[in-house]
Amino acid sequence: MNTAPLLAVDGLGKAFQGLVANRDISFTVHHGEIIGLIGPNGAGKTTLFNCLAGFHTPTSGRIAFEGRDVTGSTPEAAAALGIARTFQIVRIFQSMSALENVMVGAMLRNKRVAAARERAEAELSFVGLSHRAAVPAGDLTVSEQKRLEVARALATEPKLILLDEVMAGLNPTEVREASALVHRIHLRGIASIIVEHVMEGIMPIAHRMLVLDYGAKIADGTPAEIAENPAVIAAYLGE
Ligand SMILES: Nc1ncnc2c1ncn2[C@@H]1O[C@H](COP(=O)(O)OP(=O)(O)OP(=O)(O)O)[C@@H](O)[C@H]1O
Ligand SMILES: [Mg+2]
Repeated sequence: MNTAPLLAVDGLGKAFQGLVANRDISFTVHHGEIIGLIGPNGAGKTTLFNCLAGFHTPTSGRIAFEGRDVTGSTPEAAAALGIARTFQIVRIFQSMSALENVMVGAMLRNKRVAAARERAEAELSFVGLSHRAAVPAGDLTVSEQKRLEVARALATEPKLILLDEVMAGLNPTEVREASALVHRIHLRGIASIIVEHVMEGIMPIAHRMLVLDYGAKIADGTPAEIAENPAVIAAYLGE
């Protein structure tokens, strides 16, 4: 077990013109850890993901991945280092098959098409979508499209996966399946940060929870600690 943090975020800030979306956020993530990232709408969760995955350049602060400074890297560089993500609003190639969508992720580390296909088939199977491999992605259900994005992210062979509301819009059975999927990702040794409003999906599986409010981290602790934290309760009741 590697005890040095996989990810170390130090004083991260991101402003859009006058609007401060992330302010002075610091935390670490260890190998294989499941982190829940919660907070009211507009708290800055997706912005933080965009900074971590190289989609936004932070205004201040530092991001280190495996001890290497990756602040302001490109999405391609972040993916190559082992940071994968899904999108709050799914971004799939609608007319391409489910398998082809996952192959796009697999091509990152497999230059041969046959090898990428094999990897993509394995990840589709891992998320339970083998039987839908040939279906155009646009014809999949919402739940299937979310799993497809997880499969595409996993196909890049990440060390850290950022999941942005993969449980939104799912029924209770699908939420339980999504929680089980996150646990199986953890068993592969991959760390995850999960942005989620569906508390019954995230609280039972997270090792640790981070809470954002107005762009700042207001709490960091176990799910049990977070549930009793007065600042967290106030942030949610104040919505
Ligand atoms: N590209 C952008 N340009 C300008 N403002 C932005 C941009 N992206 C996000 N914001 C603003 O930053 C703030 C944080 O947004 P963000 O999407 O990170 O919140 P969130 O916590 O993911 O919210 P939700 O739970 O609704 O998804 C919001 O006020 C949002 O309008
Ligand atoms: Mg968001």
